[in-house]
Amino acid sequence: MQTDSSFTFVLFGGTGDLSMRKILPALYEAHRAGMLADSGKIVGVARHEEDRAGYIEWVNGHVKPYVSKDGLDEAVWERFLARIEYVKLDLSKAEDFVLLRDAVNKLSGTRVFYLATGPSLFVPICHALASVGLNENARIVLEKPLGYDLQSSNAINDAVGEIFAEEQIYRIDHYLGKEPVQNLLALRFGNALFEPLWRREWVESIQITIAEELGVEARGDFYDNTGALRDMVQNHLLQLLSIVAMEPPHSMDSDSVRDEKLRVLRALKPIDPRDIQRVAVRGQYHAGVIRGTAVPAYATEPGVKKDSTTETFVALKVEIENWRWAGVPFFLRTGKRLADRVAEIVVNFRPVPHSALGPTALRPGANRLVIRLQPNETIRLYCLAKQPGEGMNLASVHLDLAFDQFFRENQMEAYQRLLLDVINGRLALFVRRDEQEAAWRWVEPILNDWAAANKAPKPYAAGTWGPAAASAMLAQHGTCWLEEEN
Ligand code: BG6
Repeated sequence: MQTDSSFTFVLFGGTGDLSMRKILPALYEAHRAGMLADSGKIVGVARHEEDRAGYIEWVNGHVKPYVSKDGLDEAVWERFLARIEYVKLDLSKAEDFVLLRDAVNKLSGTRVFYLATGPSLFVPICHALASVGLNENARIVLEKPLGYDLQSSNAINDAVGEIFAEEQIYRIDHYLGKEPVQNLLALRFGNALFEPLWRREWVESIQITIAEELGVEARGDFYDNTGALRDMVQNHLLQLLSIVAMEPPHSMDSDSVRDEKLRVLRALKPIDPRDIQRVAVRGQYHAGVIRGTAVPAYATEPGVKKDSTTETFVALKVEIENWRWAGVPFFLRTGKRLADRVAEIVVNFRPVPHSALGPTALRPGANRLVIRLQPNETIRLYCLAKQPGEGMNLASVHLDLAFDQFFRENQMEAYQRLLLDVINGRLALFVRRDEQEAAWRWVEPILNDWAAANKAPKPYAAGTWGPAAASAMLAQHGTCWLEEEN
């Protein structure tokens, strides 16, 4: 399906890491799949390259290695390059924005301005766009992190909101574009089977994990001023939580979905500062071994302060104060340099109230739904079945929905889906301002407490599952992280 209309996609930070690894490759994949209107244009905006020829050379050298895992078709690539224009722009020069306006005015279709830059540049760029009238009838895409805390995110949202209406603003959280997250919505709201069980009466606990093997890579400087709570929890994990826990929306239109997610975020039980030790674990990786390779400690990574107290791991116990979820613990966890790269949601159902078949049926986790977001997207439902042979011995079996076996078509990468949504004006998978505020408001007591304590996070060796305190937190509730059961 092609984009509904022609477009002019203006990419600020056009030679940045994100443009190189994600945005331009995603646009290329959409182009390759015939999903972009033929007349659609991409305008790279950056300071470094002199002219279009220089930019195309940069794209050839830097973006090409990130596209098309199954081989690149040179002719298709050339046609993609033909879509690309370039404007050399210095943000401090008003006259450069006049040049940008002139370049954009020559092009047609929906205007999208994608700010793949640091958040400190969002407001100056928006002002400069408005000064040359480019904010009118345009869409603006803001990358995370949007601010550093509630106050700074409000300041950005206020300033951007004076220039662009909320319906023009697309706040990206790429986790919302992942296929299995869409599938979770399909599973919950397309089947009558799960919805009656999706509540406190039948669910004992829920875990959401985003574990990474990678460290901070070349982003030490940024990461050391950010930490895992801001980088992953405030956005990705709370967004996943809100999708897992939301009420069925009236329809899939953008505000129905976002209204329901907002209700969840507003119902998060506020964290009492006196409880933080009990419900929040922060860790930092030390040297260790991942898949047989020695990796250095976080504090020795380039750009990181030697005495850094920034967390690279967070585990939290979260509660939702509403009828559906009262009393059900949601355990969230994320970390860098963990034992495996995995993102998954685990719904543990309660055991049967009485077992005539022996104790196995009373075991926690006997019925469990595991939604694996990456790698190997699958949804797996665990049940008990009788083991063949004499007697009634129960064993765990599972029903698998492995998407790649059912659907042969290419699955879309998150960025590809989200960029097409921006061009087509679909806001449902973008974070609305009130959602973002609610998420910041909820994490703020934890941020404040950790900043005030200025204590070192708990150490964990790279290649493990994080500090032991994260396991102890679950043990208090008579449960454990999924991988600890095996
Ligand atoms: C980004 C974070 O938002 O998400 C990174 O800033 C993190 O630190 C990344 O590595 C993880 O995304 P994915 O899609 O690779 O799981």
